[in-house]
Amino acid sequence: PNAPTPSEVDDYLCSKLLHPNYGKDLNFKKGIERANENNIPKIQISPLQGQFLSILIKSINAERVLEIGTLAGYSTSFISRALPSNGQIDTLEKSELHSKIAKENFLESDLFPFPNLHLGLGLNLLKKLNLPEEGPYDLIFIDANKDQIKDYFIESLRLLRKGGIIIVDNAIRRGKILPSSKDDPTIDVEGLRDLYDWIENDNGKTVLTSGIQTVGEKSWDGFIIATKLI
Ligand code: DHB
Ligand code: MG
Repeated sequence: PNAPTPSEVDDYLCSKLLHPNYGKDLNFKKGIERANENNIPKIQISPLQGQFLSILIKSINAERVLEIGTLAGYSTSFISRALPSNGQIDTLEKSELHSKIAKENFLESDLFPFPNLHLGLGLNLLKKLNLPEEGPYDLIFIDANKDQIKDYFIESLRLLRKGGIIIVDNAIRRGKILPSSKDDPTIDVEGLRDLYDWIENDNGKTVLTSGIQTVGEKSWDGFIIATKLI
């Protein structure tokens, strides 16, 4: 009966590991409050996941990051904080409300580099998006509508440098990704299965990929992490 739960462990990890300029930044917390006040869905990444993104960015010395799905800009803030001052962060969002709140949050958190917010449908924006002047993106975080996730992944490969990293959020969905799992109309897993099939068929030509299952604040879910080989 006293067995610890993944959520309690998440709380413990947060109490020990959150950094004052990242997961413990009070302006980031205010940003979540602003999102909640505006009835934006509470589906942002956890602070520990945010710091995981920050670590990846710092460890590969990323200078240019693309994010698909801004929501209220919580993950964007972790990305911006991890970038050098000459860095660039582009973030794509289809909702006018979300992008308005995100911009307010970026200003409050005094982010530098300041995120470039692109308002529109992800795939339209992606197809028109040019490589940054300084070169392709070093890391791309995909966390938007799930039905087009495979197309987001393929377009991301066009915009990513060799050795760059793609992270896909919500890659496990409580196991519902399994073809044998009973379909749940509230969870769109078809797009994810298409992506897994694409990676299987790529057969290691373009990407080296792993799946990371996570528990805790966001229940049973996880990331796909891929690096571009060519
Ligand atoms: C949900 C979680 C996410 O991280 C997301 O990007 C979309 C939806 C969810 O729990 O429904
Ligand atoms: Mg997500």
